[in-house]
Amino acid sequence: MLRTHTNGELRLENAGQTVTLVGWVQRTRDKGGIFWIDLRDRYGITQLTLEEGQEAETLREAARELGREFVIQVTGKVAERYSKNDKMPTGDIEIRVESLEVLNPAKLPPFLIEDDTDGGDDLRMKYRYLDLRRTPVRQNLMLRHRMAQAVRRYLDAQQFIEVETPVLIKSTPEGARDFVVPSRMNPGEFYALPQSPQTFKQLLMVSGFDRYFQIVKCFRDEDLRADRQPEFTQIDCEMAFVEQEDILNTFEGLVQYLFKEVKGLEIGKLPRMEYADAMRYYGNDKPDTRFEMKFVELNDVVKGQGFPVFDNAELVVGINAMSCAAYTRKQLDELTEFVKRPQLGATGLVYARVEAGGQVKSSVDKFYSQEELQKWKAAFNANEGDLLLILAGPADKTRKALSELRLEMGQRLGLRDKDTFSALWVVNFPLLEYIEEEGRYFAMHHPFTSPKPEDVALLDNPETIGQARANAYDMVINGVEVGGGSIRIHDRAVQAQMFSLLGFSPEEAQAQFGFLLDAFEYGAPPHGGIAFGFDRLCSLFGGADSIRDFIAFPKNNSGRDVMIDSPSEISGAQLKELSIKTDVVGK
Ligand code: AMO
Repeated sequence: MLRTHTNGELRLENAGQTVTLVGWVQRTRDKGGIFWIDLRDRYGITQLTLEEGQEAETLREAARELGREFVIQVTGKVAERYSKNDKMPTGDIEIRVESLEVLNPAKLPPFLIEDDTDGGDDLRMKYRYLDLRRTPVRQNLMLRHRMAQAVRRYLDAQQFIEVETPVLIKSTPEGARDFVVPSRMNPGEFYALPQSPQTFKQLLMVSGFDRYFQIVKCFRDEDLRADRQPEFTQIDCEMAFVEQEDILNTFEGLVQYLFKEVKGLEIGKLPRMEYADAMRYYGNDKPDTRFEMKFVELNDVVKGQGFPVFDNAELVVGINAMSCAAYTRKQLDELTEFVKRPQLGATGLVYARVEAGGQVKSSVDKFYSQEELQKWKAAFNANEGDLLLILAGPADKTRKALSELRLEMGQRLGLRDKDTFSALWVVNFPLLEYIEEEGRYFAMHHPFTSPKPEDVALLDNPETIGQARANAYDMVINGVEVGGGSIRIHDRAVQAQMFSLLGFSPEEAQAQFGFLLDAFEYGAPPHGGIAFGFDRLCSLFGGADSIRDFIAFPKNNSGRDVMIDSPSEISGAQLKELSIKTDVVGK
């Protein structure tokens, strides 16, 4: 080893010892008679000193030549500091340097490698290897490491076997576009990268593995957001001979274990919410339950008083922003603009304040008498000082807009604290979802999800297909969908019926999923599973909004890795070898 200790470990007890340290020069200071160096490695920072008169002049000269991020090795004695720094673990000591060697000089880095940096996002991504030297970024990856270890410990103890599944596969329909890889040996044919190992884990159940897991890369060519990357990691799990209840209990246990091990928190039993209730009370299948502010439906309360916006609306629905009656005109205008943004598309916002004495003052007073407004107040269970915010319009769109407004109000009122965790299961999702533009049904989770046995009959009637519920569940924490899964179909005939409902001809189903349908004829056990978004779990635990900070080498919003400059064109020779016609795709 080139060192005797790391830069995070020396304490007062070590005073008097001669040690050798290595690391990067974080900064140097030359003040009067003393020269300081802050030496950094993964473990911490240790202060080095060179005092006038104590060391040979050549040593001080060498120190003066040091620049930021030089890699050096020093030997010296551990000494008690004159002025201690209680903010750093090594703050009681310093090293009186006796010899110094530059192991490698460094160019001036393009941004400050300190906790607070002056580098913008793009620059830090281009030099991600330097950004990773910064403590906050490294700590995120260390958290990720601890999480991964804890996941393995828990699942191993529960008899899960970690199995690797292939990355060059054929398309699995999870709702996003596939990334494809041309095959040189099979001209004109392509592999697809897995959107998830879904079919393989089901086949492992047919193989009798009984309990499988994998911390696995998945690939989806979809539009990116703060919580989406084109390649991301799942904790992918499957169990045989189980019912929904068993899966919920096992994986509730995993998340409880993670909170306990990694954050020292007891999160308790996870409440369960019906999908229909999540939509009704939060307008969202991943409700942020750190705060209440539930939707109140007002059709029965507000219609028939001559206000056309309410009278003509499919749904009138609102929230009670408690203690916000003092909101100014400007603040209310901001909220109105917020809901009118094209993404939300509300036509306007109606508000009502509950004033001192209990009188209600609304923005539509000319249509509503005080007596009527008191009914609003009662519906919301509102008190003096509350502000009622109401939207009206087509049901789905209005719920979606109100859901965003609810989150915005939660944010403004400080109700979405990153250190508070509210986890729940959302259960009983619909099996199918009708997509207007495509003119057909799509699987809400994926085509392998089983219907609730009591809803199977609904699938035979075109009128009721959409009402059938699935044995599907999501885990939601603080408004983030961290995981989702289902009990699968394990019967060939039911699976074939599902493909047909989804618009596959029997030939298409056989061509794409014949291997799975065939496997179901060789003794497939009842089975089900779940996959967690590992990056999302890590960012939640780390209190961040973006999953990027928890991925060592992430892509930017255009799906590019700006460090290695990928994707990039490939040579004509490579294209030719892959039998890809060069006049269509590139040079
Ligand atoms: P699903 O598609 O719900 O289910 O994915 C499971 C979880 O993966 C995370 N996730 C993502 N994280 C980051 N970037 C993305 N682009 C991204 N897409 C999804 C989410 C999500 O809850 N095979 C099924 C699971 C099963 O049925 O067992 C599946 O993949 O946190």
